[in-house]
Amino acid sequence: MCDKVQELADQAAARLGVKAYYDMNEMFEAEQLDICDVSTGGVENGSDHYAPTMAAFEAGLHVLCEKPISNNIEQAREMVAKGREKGLCFGVNLNHRFTPPTFKAKEWAEAGRLGEINFINMALWIANPRDDEFFHLRALHPHSIDVMRFFCGSIEYVQAFLKRSEGRTCWSNASINMKFRNGIVGHLTGSYDMTTRHPMERCEVAGTKGRFVLDNVYEDLTLWLHDSEEVTNIHNSIFGGLTGFGDTFRMRIHRFCEQLAEGAAPEDIDASGADALQAQEVIEAAIKSHQTGEVVRLEV
Ligand SMILES: NC(=O)c1ccc[n+]([C@@H]2O[C@H](COP(=O)([O-])OP(=O)(O)OC[C@H]3O[C@@H](n4cnc5c(N)ncnc54)[C@H](O)[C@@H]3O)[C@@H](O)[C@H]2O)c1
Repeated sequence: MCDKVQELADQAAARLGVKAYYDMNEMFEAEQLDICDVSTGGVENGSDHYAPTMAAFEAGLHVLCEKPISNNIEQAREMVAKGREKGLCFGVNLNHRFTPPTFKAKEWAEAGRLGEINFINMALWIANPRDDEFFHLRALHPHSIDVMRFFCGSIEYVQAFLKRSEGRTCWSNASINMKFRNGIVGHLTGSYDMTTRHPMERCEVAGTKGRFVLDNVYEDLTLWLHDSEEVTNIHNSIFGGLTGFGDTFRMRIHRFCEQLAEGAAPEDIDASGADALQAQEVIEAAIKSHQTGEVVRLEV
């Protein structure tokens, strides 16, 4: 456990029953580590991930990093390139896709139950009063865009309209159109002006044979088939289901460790650094679209 603020490191180390360090390089030298979990924050919750991630890769460690991979797109690109250069695994905590109903919905889509996928509608909103200009897009929407990419693939075109509520510097509301490379069309509604009284996330995917709605990350998943009057519903059970949002962190961390234990290749890591970088590229394209009024095309 390492935090540059000694008191915080000591508190967390005591709670976890491990040794406290105040300098990551000292920790890397003193301990026989396999993985470094980078949970720093910084500007737009992402500016402090770069230094520890690069240092961990230099020390030969696999990295699981918090989102956003970085709020600085150049540094995000460097982080992914460094992991590749060192042949190390790089995962990002895009925890919203690590839930049993999300896996089930993906299974349905891959088995062709939706037919040819035509469109996706995504919504993600919470309350967050922090007020950097693009904080809402850069810090929150790695999650929503990752879920959209998980179901529909790579995004090619982005068009964004942003609204800030009265008194805010942050563009706290977003309406973003997207077109995927495979032709699927999608939309994202986002906000930092809501409260936790609302369900925070909704993902709807529809094709030529059916449509599913995944409500609130893992709470409820429903499948409608065009040619059937019956619907399939999976509701998170109070017996054996996820007990709260915190379980999504457990599931994501578990999957990273599981993939490493299985000897997965860096390019096969789920929700990888490269995936997180792609989500961040979409966010930067949305910011550019807002600033120019243009539809922005992403390079492959
Ligand atoms: N995946 C999710 O759903 C989710 C939810 C909440 C937060 N997050 C992410 O978690 C991250 C951390 O959030 P937080 O609220 O705990 O931030 P925080 O600022 O409270 O904690 C970050 C800690 O990192 C320490 N730190 C920074 N640079 C360091 C360095 N080089 N060496 C050692 N310690 C260093 C700081 O001293 C601080 O204590 C953010 O990136 C945030 O986006 C993700």
